[in-house]
Amino acid sequence: MDSIILTVNGVPREARGVQPHTTLLNWLRDQGLTGSKEGCAEGECGACAVLVARPAKDGGTRLESVNSCLVLLAALNGQEVVTAEGLGTPGCLHPVQRELAVRGGSQCGYCTPGFVVSMAAEYYREDRPATDFDIHALSGNLCRCTGYRPIQDAALALGAPAQEDAFARRREHPAPVPQATHLSTPDGEFWRPTGLAQALGLLAAHPGAVLLAGGTDWAVDVNLRHSRAATTIALDGLPELRTLEWTTAHVEIGAALSLSEVERRLAGRVPLMDELFPLFASRLIRNSATLGGNLGTASPIGDSLPVLLALDAGVVLASRAGEREVPLSEYFTGYRRTRREPGELIRAVRIPLPLAPVTGFSKIAKRRFDDISSVAVAIALDLDGDVVRSVRIGLGGVAATPLRAWATEEALTGQPWNERTVREAARVLREEGTPLDDLRASAAYRAAMLEQALLKFSFEKTGQEVTV
Ligand SMILES: Cc1cc2nc3c(=O)[nH]c(=O)nc-3n(C[C@H](O)[C@H](O)[C@H](O)COP(=O)(O)OP(=O)(O)OC[C@H]3O[C@@H](n4cnc5c(N)ncnc54)[C@H](O)[C@@H]3O)c2cc1C
Ligand code: FES
Ligand code: FES
Repeated sequence: MDSIILTVNGVPREARGVQPHTTLLNWLRDQGLTGSKEGCAEGECGACAVLVARPAKDGGTRLESVNSCLVLLAALNGQEVVTAEGLGTPGCLHPVQRELAVRGGSQCGYCTPGFVVSMAAEYYREDRPATDFDIHALSGNLCRCTGYRPIQDAALALGAPAQEDAFARRREHPAPVPQATHLSTPDGEFWRPTGLAQALGLLAAHPGAVLLAGGTDWAVDVNLRHSRAATTIALDGLPELRTLEWTTAHVEIGAALSLSEVERRLAGRVPLMDELFPLFASRLIRNSATLGGNLGTASPIGDSLPVLLALDAGVVLASRAGEREVPLSEYFTGYRRTRREPGELIRAVRIPLPLAPVTGFSKIAKRRFDDISSVAVAIALDLDGDVVRSVRIGLGGVAATPLRAWATEEALTGQPWNERTVREAARVLREEGTPLDDLRASAAYRAAMLEQALLKFSFEKTGQEVTV
């Protein structure tokens, strides 16, 4: 196989000679669809945004915005995308395009197709009330010249799609199902299996293969560092990695579900995760990024990791030999090193139930939204009256790995939750980890932020004021 079929703006196209590292953006532009722009090639600007058709829970389709610079074309075999050109034409503007035009939301126009796509995704969100537009849907789109006010005016002026609107009607029909794919090219092999057993067989045969989930880390390496993999195995077509199940003992979240999908399916039932989602990158990124990828990258500043540590999560690893669960607190063995063995992939994350009743997440970054953490602190507290029955604290950005704040947990457990205890424990927390000076923050600042995080949690979540 050296070609794939992809529906673009309603028309099936055969992509021939597809290489495993070709991005959707580069291919679209080669096809003459130059509305999608390359601003950064690393998911930061949103100029390349396109819509992809994905399954909705009622058997219909959801149109989700993604960064086409971070999507590998080979992973889209049989799928359907819509670009800014497909939404409307100069003679027949889409409502989103019309609002942007009449409200002065475009000057040089470089960013405009990306804004059009992100706005359209929100416009067609199935549970969006007609009078409500979540402006954070645009948080992954940058504009350097117009200024955001007219863009925001355009977004807020949008009503509901008309009944005869072709894209609104498209949502009523099923999304394309994942197609098994195998490409063998001089640039490497690309597999997209549609079952876990096949994926594990491939991984056993190619233990050095790159596992591709949402691609928001891997495609950045491909684009900016020219990384290449001899074998790539895409995981998005594996139903076994796309489940979200509640039992009496735990909630298990499939490793290949996008963060947006996890957010929708949890529906607020894990409040600590709900604090994480809005602070994790942008909607464009969250529509692709997965928990499996965040764990797979094993970065000390991966934002889901302190949260999952505080939730006492386990990592479910699958290989041809079967499955095993490793507590996340024992999973990281060094900088970007973990207990995952060759031939294993992360199938799911398991969060034990019941959840701690009082939880909080602090992400300290240079910008409030869409930035990488300098320090992240997640806390899960269980009080028995005024006494700390148990507490778990997950930290990111203060050591070579994400870590549990064991000493602070010990200082708090069994103690009365009052100003004195919190203040003393916050001083212990300040000393946890081995924070470094780097471009984002100094070691001293990071340590100070650890201390502040517990004081803030105490005040905001338990009403226990601690004077500074
Ligand atoms: C603009 C931008 C902003 C970002 N902001 C944030 C942020 O705020 N917070 C944050 O934490 N991260 C952020 N990231 C990083 C990235 O989005 C996350 O790490 C994300 O969770 C990666 O998931 P993915 O599915 O896209 O991973 P991929 O890129 O597909 O994979 C990442 C790595 O994990 C491995 N992998 C993937 N799935 C599995 C699996 N099931 N089993 C084993 N290995 C696997 C892959 O082989 C690869 O090595 C950002 C990235 C970009 C480009
Ligand atoms: S080109 Fe900037 S996000 Fe894709
Ligand atoms: S209109 Fe020029 S960058 Fe947005």
